[in-house]
Amino acid sequence: MKIRAAVLEEFGAPLSVQEVALAEPEGGEVLVRLTACGVCHTDLYTASGADPSGYAPAVLGHEGAGVVERIGEGVSSLEVGDHVVTLFSPQCRECIHCQSPDTNICLAIREMQGQGYLPDGTTRFSRGEEPIRHFMGTSTFAEYTVMPEIALAKVSKDAPLDRACLFACGLSTGIGAAINTAKVKSGSICVVFGAGMVGLGAVVGCRLRGAGRIVCVDLSESRLALAEGQGATDTLRGGPDAVEQILELTDGFGADYTFEATGNVTVMRQAVEAARMGWGLCTVAGVAGKGVTLDIVPRFLITGRRVCGSSFGGVKGRDQVPELVELYLAGDIDVDAFVSHKLSLDEVNRGFELMEAQDGIRSVIDFT
Ligand SMILES: NC(=O)c1ccc[n+]([C@@H]2O[C@H](COP(=O)([O-])OP(=O)(O)OC[C@H]3O[C@@H](n4cnc5c(N)ncnc54)[C@H](O)[C@@H]3O)[C@@H](O)[C@H]2O)c1
Ligand SMILES: [Zn+2]
Ligand SMILES: [Zn+2]
Repeated sequence: MKIRAAVLEEFGAPLSVQEVALAEPEGGEVLVRLTACGVCHTDLYTASGADPSGYAPAVLGHEGAGVVERIGEGVSSLEVGDHVVTLFSPQCRECIHCQSPDTNICLAIREMQGQGYLPDGTTRFSRGEEPIRHFMGTSTFAEYTVMPEIALAKVSKDAPLDRACLFACGLSTGIGAAINTAKVKSGSICVVFGAGMVGLGAVVGCRLRGAGRIVCVDLSESRLALAEGQGATDTLRGGPDAVEQILELTDGFGADYTFEATGNVTVMRQAVEAARMGWGLCTVAGVAGKGVTLDIVPRFLITGRRVCGSSFGGVKGRDQVPELVELYLAGDIDVDAFVSHKLSLDEVNRGFELMEAQDGIRSVIDFT
């Protein structure tokens, strides 16, 4: 079929919205009609050429939600008409990692996905004779996409898809970092560095776990105000003296849990140093540039602080994304506050501009 999609043709240039061909789903694959898709930093990072593992031409986009249009042979967990959220982090339920409760990093299709192919090593997108590669296994800047069944979470039909799509990446990443990775204990003191989609998600996750105090640190007053709306009890302007200010707020000890959601290694170090002696746990969710390293004074670790990383918030997508969407439907997660702009697919580059200007938390492409 012919569809419209935003194609990365050349690094550093705007995406080109154009007609491309999309082949039918093969065995284990699903054709999804996208209805909504968030615009995220990772799309821009790849489009800019800053990511050395990027490739072109490719259809970008990874924060999608839509409706199952057709299923390939052997697909058993989804039916035509199901509402789905796309998962750049799939869940095969069979590999050694999927069977462990300790990680969400599925091993099933990593290699091919990283190179822009579906699990059989080919693409479904093309233009004449030329194949166009997939991105993050999702390629949701498109009217339709073909994805592996194991990379789709079936969610309630009651959830508006222009809200549900945010659970495809940043929001689940932040919430999951608090719930799954840190397993925040009720009554504890939490500090979240960064109040973008991921950091605000971490504030939500800390609140859902019953944290006693949630301090959010950012450079932007308007984002700190949003954090208050999501349950932050204290806010701080970030900067070189952030650790000192956090120690002052916590009787000189620091926080039980800290979260880093900026991607800046200087802030990561602050998040380690703001965790308390004895048991403070620093969870790093931000993605730093390739080759950049994080400095930690070992004494901080000897005296009981711990550091861990979190990919997609440790969320096992097919199991947990539907549960998070239920929490949204029950009124426990306020997603509306994060949808700042609605765009058409043709305006996708405007989504990048808004993101660079830090105008709003998420721009969502509406395909309806
Ligand atoms: N681990 C994962 O699976 C995963 C998934 C999605 C995104 N990410 C990463 O998470 C990070 C955050 O993503 P986002 O979409 O929320 O980004 P964002 O740019 O919207 O938010 C980052 C925030 O950090 C703030 N900030 C910058 N410098 C600061 C400082 N010195 N002190 C305090 N705050 C500061 C900015 O003002 C901004 O509000 C990025 O690095 C992104 O790549 C990771
Ligand atoms: Zn993302
Ligand atoms: Zn797996």
